Parts: sequence; C-alpha cells; structure tokens
Amino acid sequence: MSYESADPPREVWDYFFGGAGTEVTMKKNRSDWDAVVLLPRVLRDVAKVDLSVSLLGARVPVPVVVAPMAFLSLLFPQGELVLARAAARHQLSFCLSTRSGVPLEEVARAWHQSCDEATSPTGPRPQLMLQLYVMRDMGITESLLSRAIAAGFDAVVVTVDVPYIGVRRRDRANQLVIPDEFLQANVKEELAQQSDDPLVSFGGGVSSAKYSRLAQNPSMTWETVSKLRDASASLPMVLKGVLDPADMALCGGMNIDGVVVSNHGGRQLDGVISTPRALHAMREVERLPKSLLVDGSIESGSDVLRALGLGAGAVMIGRYFARALAVSGESGLEEAMSLLVEEIRVGMALMGLDRLSDMGSQQIRVPGWF
Ligand SMILES: Cc1cc2nc3c(=O)[nH]c(=O)nc-3n(C[C@H](O)[C@H](O)[C@H](O)COP(=O)(O)O)c2cc1C
Repeated sequence: MSYESADPPREVWDYFFGGAGTEVTMKKNRSDWDAVVLLPRVLRDVAKVDLSVSLLGARVPVPVVVAPMAFLSLLFPQGELVLARAAARHQLSFCLSTRSGVPLEEVARAWHQSCDEATSPTGPRPQLMLQLYVMRDMGITESLLSRAIAAGFDAVVVTVDVPYIGVRRRDRANQLVIPDEFLQANVKEELAQQSDDPLVSFGGGVSSAKYSRLAQNPSMTWETVSKLRDASASLPMVLKGVLDPADMALCGGMNIDGVVVSNHGGRQLDGVISTPRALHAMREVERLPKSLLVDGSIESGSDVLRALGLGAGAVMIGRYFARALAVSGESGLEEAMSLLVEEIRVGMALMGLDRLSDMGSQQIRVPGWF
C-alpha cells in the first residue's frame, strides 16, 4: 500500500467512506438532515454578519470543528498536518484523533503557527482538541492527557461509543491491514513496551478492527469518565458519541463541558437513531452541558444551519473534508473549506440572521417530527 499523492487504494477509500453493517444509519444521517426545512425571515439588516459562536467557554470564529479521523496519513501523506493547517487557515477548529499518524506535539506546533498567521490576536480563535480513546492501560490515557495539556490543546474529546469497533463489512471483505508506519504515532512506544502481550504486537501490521478491540478499554464506565475529568484538570472535557437523552442528562450532572451527539457516522452500530433525530430528542433534557455538538454527514452551510436550528452550538465534520483531501489534496481542502464557510455566511444572511448564534428552533420545521 504505497502511493505518493492523493490516490488512495480501494481498501483505504472503503475504510474512510464506509459504515457498519448494511450502512442504514450512515444513509439515514444524511436523509434526516435533508428533512429539516429552513424558514428564512426577510427585511433584516444583514450587511454585516457574525459567524462566531461560543464553544466550551471561548469564542470561535466559525461553529465548525474538523472531526477526529484515524489514520489520515493513510489517506494522504502527513494527512493530519495538512488538514490541521488548512483548518487553521479557514478559522475552523480541529480535533486530532488519538490514532494520528503524526505525533500530537507536531500537529499542535503546526496548528498554533498557522493559527497565529490567520487569526487576529484579539479576535475569536478556533480551538485545537485532542480526541482520546481510553486504553486498557489507564496510564497511557493519562499520559496522552498530560501531553495534550503540555502541547497547548484547548480541550479533550473522550469518545464513548467504541467499547468495541463496529463490524464494517467493507473492511472485512477487503481484509484491511494498517501498515506499521501508519500505526498510532501517539502511542506506538507505549504499546511496543507491552511486548509480552502478543496481542498488541505491531509486527507486520494489524487490522484496525483487531487493534482497536485489543487496545481500547471495553470496561470503561461513567466512573472512568469521572476519573478522567479529575485528571484533565482545567482542560475542558467533551464526550463524543451520546445518542440517548438519559445519557445526556448524566453528562449534564457530571461537570462535562460539551457533548457530541454522534453515531460515529454510522460506523459503530448500524440501525441506531440518526443524529438529527437524536439531537432533536435532546430538547427534553433539563440540564444540558454548556456546549452541544453534532456530527454525521454534515456537508454544507445549510446543514450547519439545520444543526444549529435543532439545538447544536457547533458541528463536527469529518468525511466531507476527508473526501476533498483524498480527491484533490491540499487544493481540494482549500476549495471545500472556503466553499463551506461561504455557504454558512451567505446562508445565515439569507435566513435573515446577522448573528449566527441567533439561529434557533423557530427557524426550522421538520414535517413529521414536531
Ligand atoms: C475514517 C474515519 C476515522 C475515524 N476515526 C475516529 C477516531 O479516531 N475517533 C473518533 O472519535 N471518531 C472517529 N471517527 C468518527 C468521526 O469523528 C465522526 O464522528 C464521523 O465520521 C461522523 O462525521 P462525518 O459523517 O462528517 O464523517 C472516524 C470517522 C472516519 C470516517
């Protein structure tokens, strides 16, 4: 599996753009966004528009976070660095996966440099987040957390919907194997030290599914989250992968700063509720965390408006950017990001909004949901 430019082989394409099972949930995410109808107001002064929103207690220029995606370097050489820099240039926040092919310190350095160049020192600044998979060895997880704090990450995103990796038929059919050089730059050393456990050996590469099953902690509970909360000290903590209002209520009671309503893009359990509907159901929850995010097939400015109308404060977007990177490399990303921001800017003005943070449920309808 070796290639120089944006030309991913079939098994990599399938890994990135496929889902679990028969991919019903993956498709349903998309069709449910399409069902959300926008209701614009007219004759409001939209000569100046403000796209900034509050996210985890800070002001960010645009309510978009690049979603964490594993093995981006498999999709494009140094994919994490390329995507992080592009996000910073477009004032989008960026969440790095634990399973990055580039060490988190290197990504953080590149991020801060690009951000300093693109952002005014006094204006809103996008956020850099580290996504954490809780490993069986809690020491490794805590060490990642301290490294994130030292490297200047703004928040940590703990993924809670992967006690086991979902069964992805495409990956099984392709017998996907992640080559050694792409395996988790962030934890390679620590895992290699556990060489007495043959299950975490890197020799010859392991499949992503096999690796994940072995490396992640399927016994993780709310208590684990509470311990991590203490260990993360002042760093805001976000949980990613909540779908049920009862779980959201638990987050609200636990000093969790943010939650991403996510079904992992339909990559975990096929048949679960779509994210637009799950987000809609969260309106019943009395005590919501400060920041509510959503992801799953969000790919346009109108989708961002729809998500904000359903109650999200910001969105995460993964595959829309990954596709641009895979097809046209850095120039593809430039185009995809500037297009998205332009769609948000023009879209909010056409909705009659001069402040994006004013987008609310009064400006959407979903036939059959309300
Ligand atoms: C190739 C790929 C790798 C992913 N890796 C991670 C990961 O390492 N950690 C995580 O929390 N989510 C991961 N996700 C899930 C995304 O963060 C996101 O929840 C999902 O893709 C839905 O957003 P999208 O439809 O805009 O891509 C991954 C998704 C894809 C497509």
